Amino acid sequence: MATIITYGTFDFFHYGHFELLSKAKNLGSKLIVGLSTDDFNQQKNKYSILSFEKRKKILESLNFVNLVIPEINWNQKINDIQKYNVDIFVMGDDWTGEFNYLEDYCQVIYLPRTDKISTSLIKELL
Ligand code: CTP
Repeated sequence: MATIITYGTFDFFHYGHFELLSKAKNLGSKLIVGLSTDDFNQQKNKYSILSFEKRKKILESLNFVNLVIPEINWNQKINDIQKYNVDIFVMGDDWTGEFNYLEDYCQVIYLPRTDKISTSLIKELL
C-alpha cells in the first residue's frame, strides 16, 4: 500500500486540516506530515501561534498520521520522497501546480480545500 506525504504549518488545527489529512491517508496506508518549523515559518513570513512542539503533539495524536517530520526548507521534498519511499505527494488545491516538478519522483495530487475555514480566519477572530 502507498506511502503519502504532505507538508504544512497546521497552526490551530482545524476541520480543514482534518479533512485534508484524513483524505490523504485514505489514498494509501502510511501518512507522513512534514511540519513547518518555527524558523521555516518565519522565513515564509508566516507566524504560527502554537509552537512546533505543540503543533507536532496535536498531529501525532491523530491515528491517521503515522509520522511527523520537520519541514525546515523548500528544498527537502525530493530527499524526503526518496528517504521514505513516498508514492504520493498531497497538498490542498491552493497549491495547484506549485509542486508538479515532484512528478518525476512520485504521484502529485492536489485535494480540494475545505471552504470557509483557515488558520488565517481563526486568527482574525482572536
Ligand atoms: N487546507 C485545506 N483546507 C483548508 C485549510 C487548509 O485543505 N480550509 C490544507 C492546505 O491546502 C494545506 C494544509 O491544509 O495543504 C495545511 O495548510 P496550512 O497552511 O497549514 O493551513 P491554513 O488554514 O491554510 O493556514 P493559513 O490560513 O495560515 O494559510
